[in-house]
Amino acid sequence: MTFLPDEFLLTLLEKNKIADEFRNFGLSLNPCDRGFSCNCPFHSETGNSCIIYPDTHNFYCSGCGAGGDVITFLMKKQEISYNEAVQELALRCGLQVPGISAEEAGRIQNRRERCYEINRETANFYYQNLLKGSDRRGLAYFRERQLTPQTIQKYGLGYAPDDWHQLYQYLSRKGFSDEELLLANVCRRSEKGNIYDNFRNRVIFPIVDMHHHVIGFGGRVLDDSKPKYLNTSDTPVFDKGRNLFSLHFAGQHIPCTLILAEGYMDVIALHQAGFPNAVATLGTAITPQQARLMRQYADKVIISYDNDSAGQNATNKAIQHFRDVGLPAEILHIDGDAKDPDEYIRKFGAERFRLLLKHAQNVTDFQIDRCRNGLDLHTDAGEVMYLRRVAQVISEIHHEKEREIYIRRIAEELEIRPEVLKQQTNIFRNRRKKNNSNQTFHNAEILFHTRDEINPEAQTHLAESKNEELLLGCLIWLPEQFETIRNQVRPEDFVTDFHKRIYVALCEKIPVSTWLIPSLLGNAFSAEEMGRITKIFIYYRDKVNIQTVSDCIANLHSQKTKMADASNMSNDDLLQVIANKKKNIRLQY
Ligand code: UTP
Ligand code: MN
Repeated sequence: MTFLPDEFLLTLLEKNKIADEFRNFGLSLNPCDRGFSCNCPFHSETGNSCIIYPDTHNFYCSGCGAGGDVITFLMKKQEISYNEAVQELALRCGLQVPGISAEEAGRIQNRRERCYEINRETANFYYQNLLKGSDRRGLAYFRERQLTPQTIQKYGLGYAPDDWHQLYQYLSRKGFSDEELLLANVCRRSEKGNIYDNFRNRVIFPIVDMHHHVIGFGGRVLDDSKPKYLNTSDTPVFDKGRNLFSLHFAGQHIPCTLILAEGYMDVIALHQAGFPNAVATLGTAITPQQARLMRQYADKVIISYDNDSAGQNATNKAIQHFRDVGLPAEILHIDGDAKDPDEYIRKFGAERFRLLLKHAQNVTDFQIDRCRNGLDLHTDAGEVMYLRRVAQVISEIHHEKEREIYIRRIAEELEIRPEVLKQQTNIFRNRRKKNNSNQTFHNAEILFHTRDEINPEAQTHLAESKNEELLLGCLIWLPEQFETIRNQVRPEDFVTDFHKRIYVALCEKIPVSTWLIPSLLGNAFSAEEMGRITKIFIYYRDKVNIQTVSDCIANLHSQKTKMADASNMSNDDLLQVIANKKKNIRLQY
């Protein structure tokens, strides 16, 4: 791993103060013991769970675990890479990133800016062409779909002419080079080498980011030809998996409830009907990054996908992503004879859609409903299969009370004794108690209702993981113990891979750094991982001494030998571990 030089990073952090960056994003900071507290910018809350530590240039949120430095903050806020964030901060304060010449830096920055300009000009071209072009088909199409002039203007909708070169000629005259137009993906090059317009004879949906830059386009055919939609490929300013259509409108008030729809037209129809809090993905299934992005703005999401099996399967996947990032989800059902929110609103009006929103279903109910798929409940075989599937769903509910409620309800529905269902549920629960570590791991996931994505092994090796954390805390805060530790601890002694990686990075960094802060490890870890590293860093400050060092080295070695048995953890052990973990969380943070 090659790290950026400390000197450069420390200057960068000094010149781009973390507290200022928070304020620039409109967060109000309250002075507290260690620095400032504020509402977390990465999950919606009002409890001031986020603390800024100006002396070490860090922030950490005890609510959602987001943390890091000003670089991490930008990476997460703008969904950009480490290098891009460093570059942006360096440019702002006139620093030169080592290893990247001023020329190269300028070129990268320039490419992005030219892309934004091209997109702006392109959006304008399509918009003018929709309203004033001689070909009225685009406008007629939107009229037929009952979009008002205000909606068209608000979304800057457009029409790409039925021609191979109009946009190309327009942008060339404005001084953009062929290379730039290809890079922004508004034009393409044929095999023969000719440049032509990417979108032709399509209505255009510009995609706009939170800074009101046009970053890409979706284009729909006017008839039934294929492909129905074309989307901009990834460009220096556009990443389909990290942006959401209409979030700049939907995320204006925090915290909000977001409606997640499938298509551009759904979102626009919803907006026009008085639901500006709708967003959609950009021609792909929802990604973990998009789920995290939504959590920055919303305290709840209502999944409002199409009323077909593809939509329902996609809903099931989306539920997992929202569960992983801890964003509560509900599921809306389009009833009646409509396939998506757009069609529903056109047929039944906004008020009835509001009712659907109000009656959105919780996740367990949704999953139980899905159990009926493909079954004939009038046959015994169908009913038995249904019972088994439902038992499986219920067996995954963490709280006993809640399980009981569902068991009673389904038993009533099937007109069976609750004991029968309960027994079946317990079979699934017991089956999951099988003593292999994968199964244990799976159990932990279910019991937690979430996974530890950053350090997955920690869930089944909690004691080991805690001890490793402590050792890392010692390394960070007792640099004079470095040699002692390094002489006795090999990377292989770590049980969890994440902690091992931190250990290796620290061993590389400590001998050459005069002042170790998490930022110095930044480019070796993801933004999510930086949050966890910052937590360790902050938590063990003033909590370690020489005695701790020898204790945890001893523990590390004895635990390693016990490891072989650890995979045989029983469910009771696991429950104990989890109870402890919860207690720890409460005690520590
Ligand atoms: P839909 O087929 O549900 O389209 O695709 P829609 O948005 O309801 O459009 P209308 O109502 O028929 O006009 C949902 C989303 O999937 C992506 C687009 O983002 C679309 O909005 N998609 C669909 C594509 O990217 N390519 C396609 O060929 C089809
Ligand atoms: Mn539709």
